[in-house]
Amino acid sequence: MEVKKKHGFTGSIGFVLAAAGSAVGVGNIWRFPYLVARDGGGLFILVYLVLVLTFGFVLLTTDIAIGRKTGKNAWDAFQSIVPKWGFLGKLTFLVPTLIMTYYCVIGGWILKYAFVFLSGQGQIAANDGYFTQFIQNPISPIFFMLVFLIITSIIVYKGVEKGVEKFSRYVMPILLVIIVGIALYSLTLSYTDASGVTRTGIQGLAVYLIPQFEGLTISKFLNIVLDAMSQLFFSLSVSMGIMITYGSYVKKDVNLNKSIAQIEFFDTSVALIAGAMIIPSVFVFTGIDGMAQGPSLMFVSLPKVFASMGIAGPIVGLLFFVMILFAAFTSSVSIMETLVANCMNIFDKNRKQMSLVICLYSLVAAIIICLGYNVFYFECTLPNGVVGQLLDIADYISNSFLMPLISFLTAIFIGYIVKPQWIIEEIEQDGVKFKRKKSSFPPKRVNEFNK
Ligand code: PHE
Repeated sequence: MEVKKKHGFTGSIGFVLAAAGSAVGVGNIWRFPYLVARDGGGLFILVYLVLVLTFGFVLLTTDIAIGRKTGKNAWDAFQSIVPKWGFLGKLTFLVPTLIMTYYCVIGGWILKYAFVFLSGQGQIAANDGYFTQFIQNPISPIFFMLVFLIITSIIVYKGVEKGVEKFSRYVMPILLVIIVGIALYSLTLSYTDASGVTRTGIQGLAVYLIPQFEGLTISKFLNIVLDAMSQLFFSLSVSMGIMITYGSYVKKDVNLNKSIAQIEFFDTSVALIAGAMIIPSVFVFTGIDGMAQGPSLMFVSLPKVFASMGIAGPIVGLLFFVMILFAAFTSSVSIMETLVANCMNIFDKNRKQMSLVICLYSLVAAIIICLGYNVFYFECTLPNGVVGQLLDIADYISNSFLMPLISFLTAIFIGYIVKPQWIIEEIEQDGVKFKRKKSSFPPKRVNEFNK
């Protein structure tokens, strides 16, 4: 396969960093904390961890193994295994098509905050209503989204190897150090509100970590499970063809066992630390009432944290937004890369042409999403009871509907049609035993698809 030869990863580290670069992004730092906060803290984390270790692991392994074994993009991979199941590959394509439309909008928001801190105006961003005013402006969010999208497109235009691999190598460790630092600082916060109530960061940490079962109803619990599941897909970048494409770039001698465990560990750790950075501070400044803010949570709470840091605040704030901007780029690059690589195959056009077409498509869709907060504003109640705008609708359709459906179909496909042994053999290619196969994949007999 031409694309594979041109853009193969240089080794295990290159693959892990690029896959982690795709996985770690605004999902970990923006989405995970707001879902934890909205769903009441500790219980969400518990459910999420169980899902990562079971579901998440199996799905990530499956995607990467399918990619490496077939050497194809999702679009063709399923078709090449069992022609009748080719539709599943086509279905996965819908997810990045949808996610791309709003990922660059959030990338634009982050870019805007990086600029605000760069121009020394971080203090203003801490004011109540600042974020809402920004997204309600019909021009500014579109401008920042456009810059974010153009940079993403340029990186994709140059190809996975050069763009993503180099990027992740430097960004990830720095990002980790910064969020650990801010998380530790958040724990030291203390604030007395107008009614004289004092709240501390440690109390906030307890809200974040300790599961509360009081008042829990079955429907509330099911909502938490669905939210955790949607977050899992989004965060690990599974069930959307992306990890299949990445798998197709991996050399046969790479130890997939180890690489997958590393990706999973890194992605989950960043999400957990990001939660420890945001939830205690939200609790300190706005109490339990402020936790249900949804997508605006990070943008409203963190500037307040930076403002409370005194002279160090503007610098830490700038560093934070620049680093998360890089993390967002590595993810958006992976989304666009999948779209471009698939379209190159489907339409038999080159990378240059397809990058342009996908960039144009994303631009039009993202403008509509931006206008969902002003010109096209309306309130829509989603099936989980959350009231949202266009961005929330796109997010809900891709993460809470399409991805669970694709995962379910993939589970049937691997579990009953192809049989898990097909995956296990691919994981054991390099001679290392697949240790988690017993708990994760019921051992099945070898079947006709083994080559
Ligand atoms: N996993 C990325 C994140 O957490 C987002 C993403 C979604 C990347 C889908 C690729 C595909 O931000």
